[in-house]
Amino acid sequence: MTAKLPSWPYSRYIAHRGGGRLAPENTLAAMRVGAEHGFTMFEYDVKLSRDNVLVLMHDDNVDRTSNGQGPAADKTYAELAQLDFGSWHSAAYAGEPLPTFAAVARYTVANHIASNVEIKPCPGREAETGAAVALACKQLWAGASTPPLLSSFAEEALQAALEVAPEIPRALLVEKVPADWRERLVKYDCVALNINQKDATRELIDAVHAAGYRIAAWTVNDPERARLLLDWGIDGIFTDELAAIRPAA
Ligand code: G3P
Ligand code: MG
Repeated sequence: MTAKLPSWPYSRYIAHRGGGRLAPENTLAAMRVGAEHGFTMFEYDVKLSRDNVLVLMHDDNVDRTSNGQGPAADKTYAELAQLDFGSWHSAAYAGEPLPTFAAVARYTVANHIASNVEIKPCPGREAETGAAVALACKQLWAGASTPPLLSSFAEEALQAALEVAPEIPRALLVEKVPADWRERLVKYDCVALNINQKDATRELIDAVHAAGYRIAAWTVNDPERARLLLDWGIDGIFTDELAAIRPAA
């Protein structure tokens, strides 16, 4: 018997960190590059500044993606906003600012772009970040046609999101597929399992669908692999290669 699958108003092609490798990750400039390449859905990483402003950033430290140093958790939004989050990528993006989650939400909603909001908490702030992101989503996507898909490797963050905003869909993000993935999807009332593409097999995709869930894979940068996973019926692929792996025009 085929299980009824949850609603999935999302693209099968998801631009990783907004613009993949073509622009500085997790910036509005990246989103514009993603949109120019025909993407209608972006993944991006969200965490709290020291003074509780939700911002887009992947790493725990600002060093790799800005001209600053040290843990993001130690910096206020005003301090983060002083930094250059573009020059590390290329001169064309010099001075690109760190965007707030609110700014990105407004941009994506206004441009009819769907979001996979990955909750990426600073260490020790898992539950409060999950709750803050989910509460912000309720407000920022109020009246929007497509809700954001929340995801996290941090199960405490998913639990907190479920508690404050059960209506915002969730995906369990995993580094390795755990043996008890079904139980975990039930526990956090998820719609999807987001896996490392290395773990994607036809059998796993079929098993997740048979259990009544969607499945997406990160990060698929080989066009052949992308084609294969899509042929197997995967519901979404996250990619950095926006020129080679993109929705049909
Ligand atoms: O959400 C998919 C993917 O972004 C997870 O890994 O490290 O790129 O955030 P990472
Ligand atoms: Mg991510």
